[in-house]
Amino acid sequence: MNISTPYLKENNNDEIYIPLAKPSITKKEIAYVNEAMIKGWGENKSKFIEKFEITFAKKTGAKFALATSSCTGALHLGLESLGIKKGDEVIVPESTWIASVAPIVHLGAKPVFVDILKDSWCIDPKLVEAAITPKTRAILCVHLYGNLCELNELIKICQKFNISLIEDSAEAFGSKYFNKHVGTFGSFGVFSFHGSKTISTGEGGMLVTNDRKIYEKAKVLNNHGINRNFDKQYCPSVLGYKFKITNIQAAMGLAQIERSKEIIQKKIKIMKFYKDYFYHNKFISFNIEPYGYKNSFWMPTAVFSSFCKVSIPSLINEFQINNIDARSFFCPLSSLKFFKENKKNKISRDIYSRAINLPSFYDINENQLLKVCSIIEKTIQK
Ligand SMILES: Cc1ncc(COP(=O)(O)O)c(C=O)c1O
Repeated sequence: MNISTPYLKENNNDEIYIPLAKPSITKKEIAYVNEAMIKGWGENKSKFIEKFEITFAKKTGAKFALATSSCTGALHLGLESLGIKKGDEVIVPESTWIASVAPIVHLGAKPVFVDILKDSWCIDPKLVEAAITPKTRAILCVHLYGNLCELNELIKICQKFNISLIEDSAEAFGSKYFNKHVGTFGSFGVFSFHGSKTISTGEGGMLVTNDRKIYEKAKVLNNHGINRNFDKQYCPSVLGYKFKITNIQAAMGLAQIERSKEIIQKKIKIMKFYKDYFYHNKFISFNIEPYGYKNSFWMPTAVFSSFCKVSIPSLINEFQINNIDARSFFCPLSSLKFFKENKKNKISRDIYSRAINLPSFYDINENQLLKVCSIIEKTIQK
């Protein structure tokens, strides 16, 4: 496996500690951020933000893109722009990060938790249809760990019941469904640029949509409710939020998106390394990529067969002893104490007990990958 040299070699302690994820920083990111810090004020104060949004829209094929300070913020803006409100129900997968659901709750609507599919770990369309009620306003699907949802099925359900599709693509930048970028199939999609994500701005997010009305509303809400075309200065017409990204973060984001092909190729290589290593091992399965689905493999995730009885907490502990950061699969959300548990969502619970996220940062080298694999191998053999 050909591994590139990290630009900041002298600051790199990865020989000792293997992180789960972190961004790839090159001279390009540093040059753009420097430029934003030195020149990105006054009339240039939004220059990188605009470029970042335009480039992101082009890359994903969306008509509009709005950069935000987080994906959670982008989701909140999108949901409110779509008109999600108190009394509405939004169908969500049981397995995802809490950020997919928190904005729904903050807007007074109810998340309805539905189980996932065994192989893709994304929401099960058949169960989605069964969960629809007269109060259902939208399906929020999550392309988990870069894996893709069954978009055709979900679109059909949305059309049948006249409800909206929202794509949480926080973890799936670069994933494509029959050549079309995820995030662009429904009313809107959101992406995360958290430090662990495929492309990063430290913290940051993006809302993409083909719907001008959603875009315009979200843009106004993101600026404290001020509509620059109509409102007098400092007189917002609606009560909004401030989830804006900074020009400095957008500068980093622009560099990252310009390098995104190379970054995604590396993700694919890392996933291949894990799959090849365990190719003959019938006790482990990984992120899938069915025909027509292009998986950008944000987070290689190993699921152990129930026959080999691997204890995920013990394995994480073993990794920690060896200075390796690995994480458990997402905890089933309805089991959190502020929700009502849906015990029917058995697959989410089962996968949670058998799966682990593995290191996959850009600069990871072959020795580090071998170290991760050998710890897994030893654990299975025990
Ligand atoms: C599935 C999913 N949705 C939403 C988010 C929220 O992203 P952010 O941290 O940028 O708000 C994340 C981030 O980890 C995520 O994994």
